[in-house]
Amino acid sequence: MPDVPTGLPNMPSGVPTAVPTSGATGVPSAGVTGVPTVVRTAQDLAVRPDDDTPPEPDDTPIARAAETAVRVLAGRVGDPLPPPAQTRVITVANQKGGVGKTTTTVNMAAALALQGAQVLVLDLDPQGNASTALGVIHHAEVPSVYDVLVEGRPMHEVVVSVEGIPGLWCAPATIDLAGAEIELVSMVARESRLQRSLQAYATWCGENRETRLDYVLIDCPPSLGLLTVNALVAAPEVLIPIQSEYYALEGVGQLVRNIELVKAHLNPDLHVSTVLLTMYDARTRLAAQVADEVRTHFAATVLRTSIPRSVRISEAPSYGQTVMTYDPGSTGALSYLEAAREMALRSARGPEQAAGGTA
Ligand SMILES: Nc1ncnc2c1ncn2[C@@H]1O[C@H](COP(=O)(O)OP(=O)(O)OP(=O)(O)O)[C@@H](O)[C@H]1O
Ligand SMILES: [Mg+2]
Repeated sequence: MPDVPTGLPNMPSGVPTAVPTSGATGVPSAGVTGVPTVVRTAQDLAVRPDDDTPPEPDDTPIARAAETAVRVLAGRVGDPLPPPAQTRVITVANQKGGVGKTTTTVNMAAALALQGAQVLVLDLDPQGNASTALGVIHHAEVPSVYDVLVEGRPMHEVVVSVEGIPGLWCAPATIDLAGAEIELVSMVARESRLQRSLQAYATWCGENRETRLDYVLIDCPPSLGLLTVNALVAAPEVLIPIQSEYYALEGVGQLVRNIELVKAHLNPDLHVSTVLLTMYDARTRLAAQVADEVRTHFAATVLRTSIPRSVRISEAPSYGQTVMTYDPGSTGALSYLEAAREMALRSARGPEQAAGGTA
């Protein structure tokens, strides 16, 4: 049996423990150790204030990265994230393979949880990469999303907590899920089975836990089959990661057409709320051209923060970790932290409104 959680930690406002700020702007005091400070953005973590103070002897890049890492892991990474008005269910989809769907799912989820949110990662890819990256066991005998989709098992029986990141949960995928695409074809309500089980899970959480989930992130396989359709029916929001490479937009048109189809027939609320540029290499003109093209196409839906190509990001899964815990002071971790904050501060409808649609 998996480690079935009995209840979420009691964090009613979904925010990290409040820590005194160093001033009105929340900008960190440079080189201060032992005194907890709050910073407004992830960038603040990495960038020292522009002053003339000579560096302290221990103010080396390594010392700063270590200090940053401590802050990230302690959740002292900015003003508390506002909890969304209701649980935001976000499908991470792009049928092009290897564009950073899984990496984005697990790191955005970890970044949100480290900033105080309650987050569930739903692994809908038979490869089980998201489960691996979160250090969640997913061999064939483990109760998984397959059991939920095909056998009708309640979601709460397969959800496990993610070690090392309070507030982060995972519904793992096993290789059985590969057969689900075919098994689902003959089933009743085959496109909406995930939606129904998620709704039942939300009700279960309301009755059995002290807090609701703030975010559900669904990692999709690189295809537009029934698994991805189930995810698109279950979520109002779609996050499209786009790799900053040639052919970046190839296939995205097809994805957008599918989203329109699902919207028209099965899920009227469905919309692309977020586009994230991944594996961005600022040294190349190609990356800048791709970014321009993507921003022309998707306008303000594209997050201002892009994710750089980073060795630490690609190493983390082999240690069963997200980059947020593997190397919390790295640029990769800071970028995901910033991207998650940016997404959380937008409303579920998209970039025009702030969180909750209030400002
Ligand atoms: N920002 C990054 N920097 C460096 N490597 C990255 C970055 N993002 C992802 N990768 C690496 O690129 C590869 C593909 O990433 P990932 O598995 O997240 O893509 P995917 O879209 O989920 O793939 P699939 O379509 O197979 O599910 C992985 O080896 C991952 O570690
Ligand atoms: Mg993947």
